[in-house]
Amino acid sequence: MTSALVSQYLHKKVTTSYSQVTMRSAFRFLKMNFVSGQRSVSHSSLTGKVAIVTASTDGIGLATAQALGKRGAHVVVSSRRQANVDKAVALLQSQSIKVTGTTCNVGSGEDREKLVRMTLDQCGGIDILVSNAAVNPFFGNIMDSTEDVWDKILSVNVKSSFLMTKLVVPHMEKRGGGNVIFVSSVGAYQPMQALGPYCVSKTALLGLTRALAPELAQSNIRVNCVAPGVIKTRFSSALWKNEDVVEELKKQLSIKRLGEPEEIGGVIAFLCSEEASYITGETITVTGGMGCRL
Ligand SMILES: NC(=O)c1ccc[n+]([C@@H]2O[C@H](COP(=O)([O-])OP(=O)(O)OC[C@H]3O[C@@H](n4cnc5c(N)ncnc54)[C@H](OP(=O)(O)O)[C@@H]3O)[C@@H](O)[C@H]2O)c1
Repeated sequence: MTSALVSQYLHKKVTTSYSQVTMRSAFRFLKMNFVSGQRSVSHSSLTGKVAIVTASTDGIGLATAQALGKRGAHVVVSSRRQANVDKAVALLQSQSIKVTGTTCNVGSGEDREKLVRMTLDQCGGIDILVSNAAVNPFFGNIMDSTEDVWDKILSVNVKSSFLMTKLVVPHMEKRGGGNVIFVSSVGAYQPMQALGPYCVSKTALLGLTRALAPELAQSNIRVNCVAPGVIKTRFSSALWKNEDVVEELKKQLSIKRLGEPEEIGGVIAFLCSEEASYITGETITVTGGMGCRL
């Protein structure tokens, strides 16, 4: 479909009856030709892709593995505990999803390398990385946080995300491209009181997304980020199990409920699909309408 064709069409319409030339008909014409031509294949399919999702035995990571797997990807799930890995693998297999599992604490270089090696051995390549792991060992006034707290939070939440990316990029390049997704947070935009260092680490992921995107675009790798609002998982249970906190939160929401992990998984799967082929360096906020602005 070329612009010459469109202008030919519009010109013909103008010479017959100018009033009949509507934007709607031009768009319908464009849409028809895309459907009959290059857009005839489902661009949401991830069949044949191999996806590593870190911290994926529960919550958002597990829902992401499900979303990618349901679209045809072979998913590699991991977390620190073998029992959790076994449970997640069994669940995904019961849903007819192609899945491989291993333990991986993303804070350990040895574990990260083991995860990548195992993926290559068992799946033959890597197309997608969803860097989802994060820790928060500290609640309180930011001025009371210690160097140990900062080392831990920045190491797991930010440094590991970059180092995982660095490990997988050469393998994505061998496949002709790929997708990297970071999981940030609404707290990246507006730090929540008592979660200062964690929120700062999530702001850093917005920067990491922007820093990597132009460089990796040269290798046909898109880099994007998702910033969830408050999603009902174990991680956020201190918030949503407290009714007063929930009521306060709802005041900031347009959609008057908390989010579900599947509502993040679906957005991540979209970003990894061909439907998002022109999106890179972006962060999508998935917050039920909570205000997000840096
Ligand atoms: N829930 C929310 O409201 C919310 C909002 C904004 C952003 N987020 C972000 O979403 C991501 C996932 O959070 P979630 O709410 O889905 O948490 P979750 O339901 O508590 O699940 C956490 C997962 O991470 C694994 N894990 C924890 N530490 C790990 C480590 N060092 N290395 C590897 N795996 C690890 C856990 O398994 P093991 O215990 O077996 O390791 C588990 O599978 C995080 O980046 C979080 O910051 C969550």
